[in-house]
Amino acid sequence: MSQFILYQDQIVPRDQGKVDIEDRGYQFGDGIYEAIAVYSGELFLLDLHMKRLQRSARELSIQLPYSIDHLTDNLNKLIKANAIDDGVVYFQITRGAAPRVHYFPDKIPTVLTGSTEDHLTENDRTKGIRTTLAEDIRWLRCDIKTLNLLGNVLANQKAHELGVAEAILHRGDTVTEGSSSNVFIVKDGKLITHPADHFILNGITRQFVIRLAGEIGIPVDERTYSVDELLASDEAFISSTGNQAMPIIAIDQTEISGGKPGPVTRQINAAISEKVKAFRKAAVSR
Ligand code: PDD
Repeated sequence: MSQFILYQDQIVPRDQGKVDIEDRGYQFGDGIYEAIAVYSGELFLLDLHMKRLQRSARELSIQLPYSIDHLTDNLNKLIKANAIDDGVVYFQITRGAAPRVHYFPDKIPTVLTGSTEDHLTENDRTKGIRTTLAEDIRWLRCDIKTLNLLGNVLANQKAHELGVAEAILHRGDTVTEGSSSNVFIVKDGKLITHPADHFILNGITRQFVIRLAGEIGIPVDERTYSVDELLASDEAFISSTGNQAMPIIAIDQTEISGGKPGPVTRQINAAISEKVKAFRKAAVSR
């Protein structure tokens, strides 16, 4: 747990962050968030995260309380206060506190809070992860990064109870994404991933993987694919801020890629590592 937190516009000791019991984030999940990777003390793919934040805010008519530059300054202060070298910064903005009505109350100040994690993931990319399938029971605006995550929480709890790392969601026959990640499959040397529509969150790592695949000449098909295609894939991986491209080695009882990370997934990870290495080098020399 981070010692210091971001509370509105201030970096304060954790116990000084107070949120009203009628905060709409607490009562309705009425808010938005971002989780950004930190490498060598600096925010990775920051612009893409901030663009997504602005989009989420727009879609829900939530007014951002500070400029992106000001917010970024505060996130950097938070990283320093908690002495984070490699980890994750999490922050959220709720619509604020007001007597409980479902519609948006007039003119209430939003509530911004943030914290840090001092590590990126518990999973090992050289070994990969086991996963399970779960029906996607979420609402139809999964493209907005909202605090309303119960569908994701229930699916992830199922995975946790089975002792596996991630739940892969499907709506009927169509694979959408992971409970907190995007899902790629590899078939005949090509990457396939669900298109960025309202059924999935357009992950920043997903966008990054697609860009890198283009750079290293791996074709990418953004199209829907079925559970059967997933189970018959040559390789599969999840992508997320903490996990980068994490190989999937099993889906329930079905082994993927012979139970080990496959060559295309390893190639993607090598490309990500190169970019992170260059980013670290620049961060250290600043
Ligand atoms: N989750 N899909 C869902 C449903 C997610 O919750 C996430 C990320 C992603 C991947 O997005 P990105 O590459 O931008 O991290 C896809 C974050 C990490 C979380 O909730 O903690």
